[in-house]
Amino acid sequence: MTSELRYLPEEVSHDAAIEDINAEAFGPARFVRAAARIREQGPHDMALSFVCVDGDEVVASVRMTPVLAGEASGHMLGPLAVRPSHKNRGIGRHLVSVAVEAARRAGSEVVVLVGDPPYYGPLGFLPIVPPTLQLPGPVDPRRVLAAALVDGVEAKLVGMMRYQR
Ligand SMILES: CC(C)(COP(=O)(O)OP(=O)(O)OC[C@H]1O[C@@H](n2cnc3c(N)ncnc32)[C@H](O)[C@@H]1OP(=O)(O)O)[C@@H](O)C(=O)NCCC(=O)NCCS
Repeated sequence: MTSELRYLPEEVSHDAAIEDINAEAFGPARFVRAAARIREQGPHDMALSFVCVDGDEVVASVRMTPVLAGEASGHMLGPLAVRPSHKNRGIGRHLVSVAVEAARRAGSEVVVLVGDPPYYGPLGFLPIVPPTLQLPGPVDPRRVLAAALVDGVEAKLVGMMRYQR
């Protein structure tokens, strides 16, 4: 199988494919997660969100939403999803690094996500200990992970995470 992977900023024309990918990866539960309650508060930032395209098929997506993480100005990463046909080829990892670097260039102080520590730990995301950052819904605090983009931001991760207008 020949394969030509490209990583592109998200465009409106990718919307339907991204919805499909997220539905396949997370099912209906994606709408009731604590992170979804923040995403309901406003749109993601298309300039910091990316897709992976194989030929002309969108095969993976990562979205970034502007948030106030307690007292820090940052972004929430997610959903991140890769089509089953394209898993384990480094696409998820690459999308995370592209999105985090874009957030850093945009002046973000921190990237926060709710996800599996074994996957995101090697990508620079650590649990917030003690768990001082709250989300608007039940979440396992061990899965609330942060990648600091500026020194000392950890001390600002106190309080509720909410959409940043
Ligand atoms: C998780 C996901 C985004 C990973 O994308 P990917 O492109 O397949 O991953 P990569 O190629 O970058 O990395 C693959 C490695 O991550 C590991 N991995 C995948 N999912 C993992 C998880 N949930 N926890 C720990 N490790 C995981 C793989 O076993 C593989 O390990 P190896 O390199 O030692 O073989 C993808 O499997 C997916 O879309 N899953 C469904 C949705 C989801 O769970 N999203 C993330 C929320 S935590």
